Amino acid sequence: MTKLPSRLQSIADLIEPCAVFADVGCDHGLMSLYVLDKWLANRVLCIDKSLKCLEKTIKLLKRHKLDDQAIFYNCDGLYPVRQVPDEVLIAGLGGAEIIDILYQYSRTRPLDTIETLILQPMRDDYAVRKWLNTNGFIITHDFIKKDKKLYRIIKAKRGVEKLTEEQLMFGACEGGYNSLDYLEWLYMYLDKCVRILGDAGRAKKLAVTTSLHDTIAKLRKQIKYVEDNYVKGNTSISKIRRKPN
Ligand SMILES: C[S@@+](CC[C@H](N)C(=O)[O-])C[C@H]1O[C@@H](n2cnc3c(N)ncnc32)[C@H](O)[C@@H]1O
Repeated sequence: MTKLPSRLQSIADLIEPCAVFADVGCDHGLMSLYVLDKWLANRVLCIDKSLKCLEKTIKLLKRHKLDDQAIFYNCDGLYPVRQVPDEVLIAGLGGAEIIDILYQYSRTRPLDTIETLILQPMRDDYAVRKWLNTNGFIITHDFIKKDKKLYRIIKAKRGVEKLTEEQLMFGACEGGYNSLDYLEWLYMYLDKCVRILGDAGRAKKLAVTTSLHDTIAKLRKQIKYVEDNYVKGNTSISKIRRKPN
């Protein structure tokens, strides 16, 4: 198979061998193909609510003669699917949509049928961590991958842990802090907060400015922590630092 884009390769590297793998929002089908091509699952559930997108996966798997190991679902999320997956990938959707898909699934079957979750939320990663943390999952990987844009990638397994507010905000795993992509994400987040703070200040929204001041202070602390402990002396930091804040 052809080389995956680096965002998808980072996701692929997290996939563990399993019996039934679900690719929710499979679209182009590259991840479903990867799983079958590498013999990582006996069966792949290819799910997409858009028939047009699902057809791309069907076509791709047929071309590689791997469609007989896949089941194709044109449906919304995971709950209408009959088979029970032990590993689930949901990538390229918003955090709220990811949570909704998992919540709807949990209304039909116990969540503990899912052993591993690989999630790549396009936004609202705080809410995703919070949901995982309160629904019996431990976050084992939580990092930023730059592939033109910055992408958050999270892997979780069944288990119980208590995350701090800072972990919920900035990433649950220390391993994810050791990268320039992560530092760039922190600076981007800081820029955004400073911009919103300016707007909120002009509109005299006191409650918003107070909570933003708090977030900005936490962000600065996290940036200092990462710079001091992980990327100290790296000459690329100056390129990552945006405007002085
Ligand atoms: C941006 S694409 C991401 C494709 C691929 N997962 C990736 O990360 O490159 C999002 C795909 O998810 C599908 N999708 C969005 N919401 C969905 C849902 N609730 N259930 C199933 N598919 C969904 C869309 O139709 C689209 O094909």
